[in-house]
Amino acid sequence: MEEKMKVMGVVGSGQMGSGIAQLGVMDGLDVWLVDTDPDALVRATKSISSSIQKFVSKGQLSQAMGTDAPRRLRCTSNLKDLHSADIIVEAIVESEDVKKKLFSELDKITKASAILASNTSSISITRLASATSRPCQVIGMHFMNPPPLMKLVEVIRGADTSDETFRATKALAERFGKTVVCSQDYAGFIVNRILMPMINEAFFTLYTGVATKEDIDAGMKLGTNQPMGPLQLADFIGLDVCLSIMKVLHTGLGDSKYAPCPLLVQYVDAGRLGKKRGIGVFDYRRVPESVKPNARL
Ligand SMILES: NC(=O)c1ccc[n+]([C@@H]2O[C@H](COP(=O)([O-])OP(=O)(O)OC[C@H]3O[C@@H](n4cnc5c(N)ncnc54)[C@H](O)[C@@H]3O)[C@@H](O)[C@H]2O)c1
Repeated sequence: MEEKMKVMGVVGSGQMGSGIAQLGVMDGLDVWLVDTDPDALVRATKSISSSIQKFVSKGQLSQAMGTDAPRRLRCTSNLKDLHSADIIVEAIVESEDVKKKLFSELDKITKASAILASNTSSISITRLASATSRPCQVIGMHFMNPPPLMKLVEVIRGADTSDETFRATKALAERFGKTVVCSQDYAGFIVNRILMPMINEAFFTLYTGVATKEDIDAGMKLGTNQPMGPLQLADFIGLDVCLSIMKVLHTGLGDSKYAPCPLLVQYVDAGRLGKKRGIGVFDYRRVPESVKPNARL
């Protein structure tokens, strides 16, 4: 199935969808990028073009491919444009209900042989598959942020995912230059099962006044040799995304140790969603120190 893949659909053109679409066009696929928000499509087109130019200027992509790749990208708000896609990667909001509705629509619109993949960070692939009539062709394809740079893709098999779907999805990720790890379909899979409780614990450490946000991040960065601290990482991922994943772990694994930290909940309630909103745990807006709000709500 994989060798015939020529057209990829990506639904959701936010941080992840735009990066996944970029990988597709840089690899020579024709890509349809879908978003209900036309402004998000405009932002995605700009960020994809500028990121492709960076690959060219660093010598990681040929000039010819750098010119050709953006032309392979087509943006739309009409899901029906995905009718010719061989694989669709969903990267919309982390909500089971919204994703299920989309999978049900994709099932009706796309060709019978198409693979329906989800970039979900934590939601059950088996349950998303149950919204379609083709559960053997539904799979998790979990890219890391930012997709063009991060080397890993977690591939998650639902209860009914076929070997053929698994092989084709793995081969596509490898074609994008990624290393694939395979996870069973349990909440959080591998990476977020381990990462999110660490981030949540960093919030508890801040919430209970153990240390300042700067010292928590410096401690973890320098003390455990990570490229950035857990609070900054949460800001980069999006605090709303982190909260959704903690809720999925809490519900899916049924253990109180996964209960989201109240401070994380409060930041999300306040709209402090992280770098994408200019403010999360840290403030990314260029405002004078004197008018910055107190970092601890
Ligand atoms: N942010 C991360 O670090 C990260 C990493 C891995 C996986 N993920 C997962 O990827 C998915 C997307 O995350 P993101 O950070 O890119 O989110 P985002 O908020 O940046 O982008 C989501 C986009 O989806 C669009 N959208 C929402 N509902 C839609 C619908 N029904 N149809 C079409 N478009 C719709 C929104 O307009 C928005 O542009 C989530 O499932 C998330 O858990 C995120």
